[in-house]
Amino acid sequence: MRKPIIAIDGPSGAGKGTVARAVAHELGYHHVDSGAMYRAVGWKAVHDGVPLDDEEAVATLAGRSRIEVTATSVTIDEADVTRAIRTPEIDRAAAAVARLPKVRDVLVEGQRRLGAGGAIVMEGRDIGTVVFPRADVKIYLDASPEERARRRATDPAHSGGPAAIADVASALTARDEIDRTRQASPLYAAQDAVVIDTTGKSVTEVVEEAMQVIDEKLKGKRIWQEGSSRPRGRVD
Ligand code: C5P
Repeated sequence: MRKPIIAIDGPSGAGKGTVARAVAHELGYHHVDSGAMYRAVGWKAVHDGVPLDDEEAVATLAGRSRIEVTATSVTIDEADVTRAIRTPEIDRAAAAVARLPKVRDVLVEGQRRLGAGGAIVMEGRDIGTVVFPRADVKIYLDASPEERARRRATDPAHSGGPAAIADVASALTARDEIDRTRQASPLYAAQDAVVIDTTGKSVTEVVEEAMQVIDEKLKGKRIWQEGSSRPRGRVD
């Protein structure tokens, strides 16, 4: 009996990482940050001097590299890039390589493999639209551009020195624009996704809202009855 797949999509700074991690913890599922894979490929391309618009070369690099994303670390070919991929330079490099269809093909295949067994919460931009169009639950998180910029500017996972919110806001807007308007798998909410606006809400509120959506969607499905061992209680 298949276990559920939960897709969480949305733009940067909408709270996907925090919420996906908390929901996965609450359900006892694996959490996969698909953005970390694009970041790792962007990092490696920069590191190896591969032009970010050379689709063949970047796709070959992606196909040859061993990328591992765990709850606490990201490695590519044994290099630990957990922190190195959270910089403004790699923000841009990841968005650049993510535009390339052949690179996406490689990473989407890997993401589908990771999700094949279910019991997974995967976050990204195209998880509900392309990677798992038949995901059991699709959530699209959004927030106002100001709030997203503020969160990103104060996110300790993102290095690169203290950043002015105005600078972060313009970089974020530029990256959003690339993600939303690219030809290959642009960012948008799947037609059957539940949209949660996280503006002005606490993490606890958003996680509770997401858990309600998940409970509602999985209620009555046999996969839920069979697979459920979900501990009750809040994640604070
Ligand atoms: O989520 P995060 O900001 O770490 O993602 C980095 C970049 O990877 C995004 O700007 C986006 O271009 C790309 N991405 C994507 N599809 C995904 C996840 C991330 O195109 N499923």
